[in-house]
Amino acid sequence: MIHLPKSAYTSCDWYDREMRTLFSNTWQFCGFVEDLADPGDWLTVQVGRHNLLVVKGRDHRLRAFHNLCRHRGTQLLRATGKSEKAITCPYHRWTYSLNGELLSVPERQREFPDLDLKKFCLHRASVETWLGMIWVHPKPDAPGLMHWLRDVPDHIGPHRPEELVPYPEGATDHEIAANWKIVVENYIDGYHLAHLHADTLNMYWHARQESRFIGPHFVFYEPLSPEYEANLEKMAPMPLIDHFTPEKPVGAYVPMLFPNLGIAANETMWSIFHVIPLAPDRTRVVTRTRVMPVSELAFYRQYLKSAQYYPSSETSGDDPLASGNFIDEDIYACEQQQKSLASPLFSVGATAKNLEAAVVQFQEHVHAHVTAVPSAATEV
Ligand SMILES: [Fe+2]
Repeated sequence: MIHLPKSAYTSCDWYDREMRTLFSNTWQFCGFVEDLADPGDWLTVQVGRHNLLVVKGRDHRLRAFHNLCRHRGTQLLRATGKSEKAITCPYHRWTYSLNGELLSVPERQREFPDLDLKKFCLHRASVETWLGMIWVHPKPDAPGLMHWLRDVPDHIGPHRPEELVPYPEGATDHEIAANWKIVVENYIDGYHLAHLHADTLNMYWHARQESRFIGPHFVFYEPLSPEYEANLEKMAPMPLIDHFTPEKPVGAYVPMLFPNLGIAANETMWSIFHVIPLAPDRTRVVTRTRVMPVSELAFYRQYLKSAQYYPSSETSGDDPLASGNFIDEDIYACEQQQKSLASPLFSVGATAKNLEAAVVQFQEHVHAHVTAVPSAATEV
């Protein structure tokens, strides 16, 4: 059994190795298909040590490229936006088509008489979509996303996110003072659910949780608590997802796709939980939620029906443990763990055999990636 060393959560050296070996060599979620609705729409994403751009072509196909001008390596695009018809480097205005071909170079005749434009296409990366999500990989010929996910799609919830609609009110964006692995470990830790979240996630039956690994990916299910299930029509805070089947019954399906994309899908919503490493002790977590495509009136009716079960509790100041919000509770726990790493007395005293087994397995997968001998296959 491997426990990662303390330095894995604190040192720049470990962090750099993770960026080089792990994040530069795995598929990464980067957005939703509706983010790139029209030709010329683009987004950029940092994937390990690579900055990639994804752009929708005039043929409505998505293409991914490394966000580097072939002239001097300048970043071509920032954040997200709409391109006119081409991608132009801000530095010397080398201009590329949405297909990545170099179209024009200022002062070309005089300054670069022998330049062959065809030799300076943008470096390609890989892009695929799945369940309305856009995924990228820095390698142009990466084995496909389904190869990476193995049979995970068979073991997640029955939700069809492409048929659900975005719920902007459910979007969150937090910067957390903890290493990204502490955030992921907390996400897959089944032990704390009944304790840290005793008051906030009590609609689920934690004692009946089931989880397993499929390759490096974690899958998790727990049913609704008996009381909640018996009164689901009344107690559900939002309109119920209607995708459940006898094989995939109602409950919480909460996979963590290695290394850093959680999905939280339950009786009323489908969300992503994107863990974005920023520094050894800093992590950004972005959530985006989708819900049933029903009218605002239906949402309001369900809210009224369920309101009696959720009396608005007085929150006591800014104490995260009294916030009534399980994300605030988790952030508190993660940040406290990160702080404790600085103490010479810090140690992991014991690990729950079943309920924390996933944490150990996750660490083993990270360890295997980070300590793999660098080769052409592991480094892009
Ligand atoms: Fe939690």
